[in-house]
Amino acid sequence: MEEQLRQLREEALEELGGLDEIQALEGFRIKFLGKKGVVAGLYGRMGALTPEERPAFGQAVNALRDELESSLAARKEEVGEKVEGRLPAGYDPSLPGFSPWFGRRHILASVMEEIVDIFRGMGFSVADGPEVELDYFNFQALNFPDDHPSRDTQDTFYINEDVLLRTHTSPVQVRYMEKNPPPIRIVVPGRVYRNEAIDASHAAEFHQVEGLYVDEGVTMGDLTVSLRNFAREFFGTGTELRFRPHFFPFTEPSAEADMTCFGCGGSGCRICGNTGWIEIMGAGMVHPNVFKSAGYDSDKVTGFAFGMGVERIAMLRHGIKDIRLFLENDLRFLSQF
Ligand code: DAH
Repeated sequence: MEEQLRQLREEALEELGGLDEIQALEGFRIKFLGKKGVVAGLYGRMGALTPEERPAFGQAVNALRDELESSLAARKEEVGEKVEGRLPAGYDPSLPGFSPWFGRRHILASVMEEIVDIFRGMGFSVADGPEVELDYFNFQALNFPDDHPSRDTQDTFYINEDVLLRTHTSPVQVRYMEKNPPPIRIVVPGRVYRNEAIDASHAAEFHQVEGLYVDEGVTMGDLTVSLRNFAREFFGTGTELRFRPHFFPFTEPSAEADMTCFGCGGSGCRICGNTGWIEIMGAGMVHPNVFKSAGYDSDKVTGFAFGMGVERIAMLRHGIKDIRLFLENDLRFLSQF
């Protein structure tokens, strides 16, 4: 028995001396010192010994185990040094590593997604339409008169007389209604273009989320409840909305919605210019002429629509002072969100 242990020890140490890869050393550990390894097997043989033989054998196996463990640890260090010897000069393995660079969503994409998600929760689905749009859908079908100022080339990028870059997401209202019978409930996130002189609060391309809800018996009450719900989910439960009369050609009546300022709660501060209110979107009841363009029967159905500027909402929420930051791709700005 003693002789067997001595032989085993010699073989093991010889094997260990020939290993010079970290992985092979792990294999050695498993083979000899693992749960089902050689040493464990020796302990398992104790039961077959006489009570007199056991203590000596136990001690011998303990000694073998300790020796193999310490020899393995020593060999690990030697092998580790060899590996380091192979590394390029000047490489310091004790320095912290580089963490991989993760991309992230653009702040506008995530704000838009958040807006859309809130309306999804109210039963709206998502629709979209082309950014290169016909004058017909962008203006005519939405009840804009021929001489409306926003149809001027000063304000709109025309490709030719009939084709333009859409100035708002509202043309998707008519496109969608032409293809889908009522009832409908959609939100339309997307990019829009205007021929603007660019400054801190004006960009020539920006984003909107449009909404449209048409069914029998939809009222202004449905509009106010839905938009108030949205404002509270997005800006916080204490948020109030108020509606001021306004004009849009495609809604009647039309309104602009203001919310209580999240900076001061309505008492007046710098964010809201001391009024306590912040304008967040346009809205109204769909004009019968728009239903006519889309082939809907305006005696049967009514609907509400709204449109909000994504940049504006992101700027309000995050205290961003310059709209140009969104398109500059400066990671110092983008990685804050
Ligand atoms: N399209 C409008 C704009 O670009 C925003 C808007 C106002 C959309 C009222 C609507 C609405 O659907 O009902 O300024």
